[in-house]
Amino acid sequence: MLSLELVDYCHIDKIQEFMNAINQSGEVFCGTGMLMNFQDDLTKYIQVEKKIHLGISEDSSLVPGTTLVCLENDEVVGFVNIRHCLNEFLLAKGGHIGYSVHPMHRKKGYGTWMLNKAIDYCKQKDIYPILVTCDKDNIGSRRVIEANKGKLETEGVTLRYWIGKENERL
Ligand SMILES: CC(C)(COP(=O)(O)OP(=O)(O)OC[C@H]1O[C@@H](n2cnc3c(N)ncnc32)[C@H](O)[C@@H]1OP(=O)(O)O)[C@@H](O)C(=O)NCCC(=O)NCCS
Repeated sequence: MLSLELVDYCHIDKIQEFMNAINQSGEVFCGTGMLMNFQDDLTKYIQVEKKIHLGISEDSSLVPGTTLVCLENDEVVGFVNIRHCLNEFLLAKGGHIGYSVHPMHRKKGYGTWMLNKAIDYCKQKDIYPILVTCDKDNIGSRRVIEANKGKLETEGVTLRYWIGKENERL
């Protein structure tokens, strides 16, 4: 059974395995919060994520946010990163929600499921409407967003989708 948990110290070993898989695949980290910046120190990574979650990050360029790990059979099969508000960069490019599925667990519906749960989380926190973006050539991500009723606003290299009331902006 799939579950989502706030990223925490107890997940470190499982995160290491996820990270190794991403590095072996040669992909860039995406939707995993600050993981890319703290690959050598996962304790620090968790510390940083906890501060961002509480809105007390030392880095003023980071908005408050929540990183959740998706677990199945005691394995981290995905990450979802929710930004609680948009700054200039997020409004133009990053959006509210990023996600990543373990390379060995793709095309099983996990990406669609995680975005759906992240949308529920946003609604509970009054983060609405929700901006979700992806690169034009990221077919998997496009389908994940469209399966979650994302409405395409802008065509281009970055596709911008809104989930929520039409024409409403934050
Ligand atoms: C994008 C990503 C999250 C999709 O996750 P996933 O778990 O494979 O997605 P799902 O299984 O829910 O797939 C949704 C649909 O897209 C399709 N799909 C997924 N990846 C695909 C791909 N690479 N090419 C074509 N179709 C794809 C699935 O078959 C499914 O189709 P269906 O609706 O007909 O069933 C995953 O590929 C990933 O982690 N990529 C790297 C990180 C990333 O790009 N994140 C998004 C931007 S932050």
